[in-house]
Amino acid sequence: DSKLCFHSSFAFGVATASFQIEGAWNVSGKGESIWDRYTHEHPERVFDHKNADVADGSYYKVKEDVQLLSQLGVNFYRFSISWPRILPDGLSNNVNEDGIRYYKELIEELRKNKITPVATMYHWDLPQSLQELGGWTNPIIADYFVDYARVLLDNFGDTVKVWLTFNEPLTFCENGYGGDDAPGGRSSGFEDYMCGHNVLRAHGMVYRMFDQKYRKITKGVMGITNVFPWIEPATTSREDQKAADAARQFMFGWYANPIFSQQGDYPQVMRKAVDANSKRQGFPRSRLPYFTAEEVEMIRGSFDFMGLNHYTTYLAAPGSGKISTKPSYQDDINAIITQKDEWPKSNSTWLRVVPWGFRRCLNWIKNAYNNPKILITENGVSFEAGLHDTKRVNYIDAYLRALHAAIYKDGCHVLGYTYWSLMDNFEWMRGYSERFGLYQVDYESQNLTRTPRLSAKYFSNVAKTGCLPDDYTDYTYN
Ligand code: FCB
Repeated sequence: DSKLCFHSSFAFGVATASFQIEGAWNVSGKGESIWDRYTHEHPERVFDHKNADVADGSYYKVKEDVQLLSQLGVNFYRFSISWPRILPDGLSNNVNEDGIRYYKELIEELRKNKITPVATMYHWDLPQSLQELGGWTNPIIADYFVDYARVLLDNFGDTVKVWLTFNEPLTFCENGYGGDDAPGGRSSGFEDYMCGHNVLRAHGMVYRMFDQKYRKITKGVMGITNVFPWIEPATTSREDQKAADAARQFMFGWYANPIFSQQGDYPQVMRKAVDANSKRQGFPRSRLPYFTAEEVEMIRGSFDFMGLNHYTTYLAAPGSGKISTKPSYQDDINAIITQKDEWPKSNSTWLRVVPWGFRRCLNWIKNAYNNPKILITENGVSFEAGLHDTKRVNYIDAYLRALHAAIYKDGCHVLGYTYWSLMDNFEWMRGYSERFGLYQVDYESQNLTRTPRLSAKYFSNVAKTGCLPDDYTDYTYN
């Protein structure tokens, strides 16, 4: 029998994020987030000029959305909590009780349906008031994040046992503070590194607080989600392999090394390169900040498991070695990452369908960080709207086969798999043009109707049986 099954303890789930689905951006006491401000001020920067004022209307659809989850038969639901819905000004002296009520209702509904809540504290919707202080570039933000986390743990710690501090710091620091592809700072080649630095400090501080004050009472676990596209050397040459490794360190090691490596701190190649580039650009002090010895200690080992988002694979070859006069992370990383075009495309320009990259990625982590427990917190693909999404079924099936091999052939320690996303939603700068959902959302309809795609049927079968079907072609839509 060729049937591939996951162990019965292996968990299946789906994910969403507050800003992408909730809507209700200014009601029931919610404060303004940086994404509210940004999409209102710069509609032209969003691909379809839309915003998330309404989005999927999930703020008003707790029961309906949990029914979607229940029909899928998933073990857990990964959602994120909107900081400005809980603390309208970002500060913990003003708690919005209606925000607390909303998430309590959601969690209670999940409990009734035997679905485990997995909560992300920060999935990019920073209170605008804190952006005024410099956002993630101001070291004080770490203290405000601790205050916010304390409110979450005090209110939800008895019912939520699985926590993620941050979703993809690489993405929001780079897009927001290294470029204009998200709200944040100026693209100076300094601020993205400052953002990363303060996020790592904030994560470490919250983990230590959780460990010391909440773990005993809540019996929960905490991690952080990083994104790791696999980076394959363009050829087998030593130069390409070196470039690929440097690129992995720059993209994944930047946020993973300080937390998951034995020695802690930023990866050596990154430290060396940014220090040297800074000097060449006339800055004797590095653009990459230094942790104090105490900070290295605090951040190192600040996890119970590793959250991992994986979507795609790139190819790397050595860069020109040239550094421009204008400092930037992209310039620093131009050890070069080229995307190979012949790989099958999705509907997102950055996303190629390369399932074996997933397996290599997991094996690299296993070797680099002593085989940590991993929760796949996102994996998914966008295709054009439509219910008969055989391409998505193919993607999920192929990536799950690669995951199965990583676990049962290679010994990677993976606890569960999360598909992104439960339903179509506001895909940041791409608006509603890129659809990742197992459920299609009809944005023309009055009540934002959700309809299961073929992939929902496929995934629910996997979640319910724990096995991949021998032949998924019989997943015809009816
Ligand atoms: C990830 C984000 C998630 C979604 C997917 C497609 O980088 O975490 O919110 O946008 O990409």
